[in-house]
Amino acid sequence: MRAFILIPFAVCIYEIVSLILPLKLPLYGRILAYAILLSGLLKGMLYRQTPTGFEIIELPYGGALFISVIFNFIIVAFFMLLVKDAIFIIWKIFSRVKFPGYYTSLFVFSLAACTTLYGTYEGLKLPPVVNHEVKIKNLAPEFENFKIAMLVDIHADELTNESAVQKIVDRTNALNPDLILIPGDFVDGSVKARSKDLAPIKNLKAKFGVLGVTGNHEYYFDYHGWLKEIQNFGVRLLMNEHVIINSGDAKLIIAGIPDITSLMMGFTAPNLEQALKDAPDEPIILMDHRPDAARENAKYKIALQVSGHTHGGQMPGMYQLVKRANKGFIRGWYEIANMKLYVSPGTSQWNGFAFRLFDPSEISLFTLRSE
Ligand SMILES: [Fe+2]
Repeated sequence: MRAFILIPFAVCIYEIVSLILPLKLPLYGRILAYAILLSGLLKGMLYRQTPTGFEIIELPYGGALFISVIFNFIIVAFFMLLVKDAIFIIWKIFSRVKFPGYYTSLFVFSLAACTTLYGTYEGLKLPPVVNHEVKIKNLAPEFENFKIAMLVDIHADELTNESAVQKIVDRTNALNPDLILIPGDFVDGSVKARSKDLAPIKNLKAKFGVLGVTGNHEYYFDYHGWLKEIQNFGVRLLMNEHVIINSGDAKLIIAGIPDITSLMMGFTAPNLEQALKDAPDEPIILMDHRPDAARENAKYKIALQVSGHTHGGQMPGMYQLVKRANKGFIRGWYEIANMKLYVSPGTSQWNGFAFRLFDPSEISLFTLRSE
């Protein structure tokens, strides 16, 4: 946990030297700038490790938003300052003209502030509906135009609070979906603190109900408590199992496996073979929170895997790192052998870094068509 504080502290010192000091602010301005910058360090102090995972110190919405904005600024400004200082070093080597430190720092400050505000807004805004037509082999005529809405990475927290989750629910219900899937990362925080923020998902409405699987974040706080609470909210969690959706004589299989974090925490390991045991020979849609096992999953007879977890990388630069960490899968459509994979950028944002830049979130709406 110390890394969550020490690394941002080192970054803040660098930003004071490279960004604040060249601005030549009066003393009171400098003190205010240091205080605001250092307040972003509170972000790392909000997380506490417990014997069973983490707990978050709860803040009111305004406090959580302020600290998030400052923290976002620290990260955005850091990358911009690295570029500025690389230019500074090259300038010092090749030019005898004095480096315009004041103007470059002023430019970086303005650009970082605007980027931070926009990225924070993009993270907070209500996700749009994105339509996807999915061709499925051997799809029965009864499932032609079957509509599946998918929410993933809701990450209910102080910022994605009860009101925000209710708006997502209202927008989803307005689509009149036949089925709703939620493949993981419902929430961040204890059941006691967060239950009211996630509770609006109990208002989700679909003819064939709401199905889900656990994401990694379900294991960080109170796994048993959340497992019970999420199912109390009307979501059937598929833990290495499948359900059969019947329409007349036609069938569609929805399977789900828990996130791999379950294995690391000593809980039920993901087991696709078990999830598909005794499944009839009909098209299968798989929920797996992370996309990185897609190549192994494609060895089974799966028509479509839906995943999230990557948040689409959240911003240019991080996109490449997150893509590499998830075996090349980051957002959008992929074809793996006969399996289609859709990686959603997520329906909300994660409060550890509540920021999205040119990476909009979405409510996914899949319309099935026969291939
Ligand atoms: Fe995740």
